[in-house]
Amino acid sequence: MSRKKYLLSSPHHKEKTLSSSFGLEYPELESLHPGKKYVPTGIKTLNYSVEEFSGRSAQNTYAQNIYNEIFYSRCMQKEDLVFFRKWFSEYVKGFTSPDPFIRKNLDLKAKHTKRVCENILLLAKAERLGENECLIAKTIALFHDLGRFEQFLTYKTFKDSESENHAALGVKILKKNGILSRLPGEERNIILKAVEFHNLMEIPEDTSNSPQLLFYSKLIRDADKLDILGLICKDYEAGGKSRNPALELYLPDTPECSGSVIEDIMNNRMAKIRDIRNQNDVKLLRLSWVFDINFPETFALIRKHRYLEIIMSSLPGTEEVFRVRRHLENYFEKNTLINGRVGN
Ligand SMILES: [Fe+2]
Repeated sequence: MSRKKYLLSSPHHKEKTLSSSFGLEYPELESLHPGKKYVPTGIKTLNYSVEEFSGRSAQNTYAQNIYNEIFYSRCMQKEDLVFFRKWFSEYVKGFTSPDPFIRKNLDLKAKHTKRVCENILLLAKAERLGENECLIAKTIALFHDLGRFEQFLTYKTFKDSESENHAALGVKILKKNGILSRLPGEERNIILKAVEFHNLMEIPEDTSNSPQLLFYSKLIRDADKLDILGLICKDYEAGGKSRNPALELYLPDTPECSGSVIEDIMNNRMAKIRDIRNQNDVKLLRLSWVFDINFPETFALIRKHRYLEIIMSSLPGTEEVFRVRRHLENYFEKNTLINGRVGN
């Protein structure tokens, strides 16, 4: 029985091969998998016996086998990330304003995205992710704050409660533009969900059914927090000279700390945005993020850059701040690298 080999190198080539060899048109192939998009893949050799099949339905089965092999074997490639980066850069360029305050904040988010992409790669490498997994992680980082640009241009604030949820807005923009449609459904879903979950107080419980989604959701949350901690520490170290009210959520610089925020920290909980009253509370909120850190490498980087000490030293030297400091230091010690894993 002779076997035929097909070298598939481009969507055009695939369509031509399939339709000319089996008399099937591309739309017919699509109808075999309604709702699924026929996506381009890299070079692939398929080895099937043509003689096994005769008649129309057999040809359909044959084409379906090939289609399955192409569709299900494909995963995100480097070229996809190149495409996403180019799209993102063009998208961001489309946001401009004569107001220097708006321009400054849009620029801040573009730079934040770049650094989160770098952070996520550090974490991904420390977790020994493979090439494809790194590509997915970088795509999540690239798009995690996509909604920020439209949010700031429309509402002049980064405060979701006074505008709209920037993560959900980002997902809406990604879906509207169909930008991820070149990826297989599973990868597309992970990226969209990880973007959606990145700013929630907690990752939804039902995500535990999908270990991959849970992993990437944790990864982007850590990478995002690392950058915001770095950004505010740089500002505090410079004595707050470049302090941006949008980063401080437009709150007053009064000397007290809110009791509910202190209570959350003393109970190993992240503080809640709704309890934040002044700039001290914002600092405590950022410190409380340590309770939502997931990876040993994130703990190591926070320690390396002394983020906790820097934020602490910008708070007033009161007895309650001292108690918070001691509590956070103890937590940090206990949870850093227990046999190479983060403890609970
Ligand atoms: Fe965000």
